[in-house]
Amino acid sequence: MDESARDRPVFRTVTDRLGQPDSRRLIPTPALVCDLDVLTDNIARMAALTASSRIAIRPHVKSHKSAFVARRQLDAGAVGLSCAKLAEAEMIVRRLIADGYERRISVLLTSPLVGAVAAERVLALSGFCDPIVVVDNLEGVDELASAFGGAENGLGVLCDVDVGFARTGVVGPSQALQVVERIEQDPHLHFGGVQGYGGHLQHIRGREERRSSTMESTRRLEEVVNALESRGHNVPLRTGGGTGTSALDVEIGLLNELQPGSYVFMDREYRDALGGDPEGWFGQSLTVATTVISANQDGFVTVDAGLKAMATDAGSPLVVGHEATASYHFFGDEHGLVTNGPDGPFRRGDRLDLVPPHCDPTVDRYDFMWLVRDDVVMGVADVVARGCSQ
Ligand SMILES: Cc1ncc(COP(=O)(O)O)c(C=O)c1O
Repeated sequence: MDESARDRPVFRTVTDRLGQPDSRRLIPTPALVCDLDVLTDNIARMAALTASSRIAIRPHVKSHKSAFVARRQLDAGAVGLSCAKLAEAEMIVRRLIADGYERRISVLLTSPLVGAVAAERVLALSGFCDPIVVVDNLEGVDELASAFGGAENGLGVLCDVDVGFARTGVVGPSQALQVVERIEQDPHLHFGGVQGYGGHLQHIRGREERRSSTMESTRRLEEVVNALESRGHNVPLRTGGGTGTSALDVEIGLLNELQPGSYVFMDREYRDALGGDPEGWFGQSLTVATTVISANQDGFVTVDAGLKAMATDAGSPLVVGHEATASYHFFGDEHGLVTNGPDGPFRRGDRLDLVPPHCDPTVDRYDFMWLVRDDVVMGVADVVARGCSQ
């Protein structure tokens, strides 16, 4: 966040009272709020899940876009970070270094890059961290090879494999072989392994169905790995997976590195899909705080969090503490409608906490998130890579 944002009154009303009892009530709403203890527990749980199976964890920054959370993940044993976009990596790594992180960070860019300018940006990034990129196309390999032609250090390159999601990735072993052979022809590019991310698997409801679909996707990745190895290509890294398949990926065992993101926060969509399954054993650390601003109608009140306060792609948020009795409905850009439950009407000035429907794009709407422990604001974390989708 830039200095002028820190000078905003909305920021100062609370930062002047950090650590004081009941300071949470001072947070101007709508606001992004993260429970520190639940966050810490989530990071520790995922670290333990992977460590017990000797699988590396490279958490995805796209969910939190915060150097504060990334630092905690690295300190909990992550081998590096995953970033969706170059700008996300540029901002997070710069901020970690500015905040005193001294180890060189390994950063996997999980989306294929296009063009000479992007390849030059990877070269620049390699000046202050160790980037690894994914490719699914021969021209993509050539663009990276040109950028790194005169470079002192080489670049780690993975072959991105479509495991059934069809968003990116080579389709089948023969495309993979072509891409990997092209990588290996270049003296500055080092083939490091494969990425197989099954985005279509993550929110499948019911563990058995999620397991069988995950096994099917893993089989596709295995087929590519076997084809590459049988042609003499070593495939050391097999990275992929998300929160929804995390414990399944560990059980299945082909991936040796997981890149989950949402587990740090969870959201309503994931809670609905995972229920009490092992992949759902993460707490709800992220909420959007809102205030009742008008209570003159029978049956409902109006709160100050609307379309601008939350991503709307995954339905409505839940009202914490009133999940079964009150419901939230979007009521315009700046407003939401919350029904009054049988436990009495909400009143003007009441503060409510909402579980966002989808955490990643919700976080991207805020410059910072308040870090709380019970009713006390302990600190603030910048969403430093907010808007960095380039
Ligand atoms: C390539 C890739 N890896 C990992 C993740 C993390 O998934 P999740 O947030 O479901 O844990 C995502 C999320 O979209 C992704 O696109």
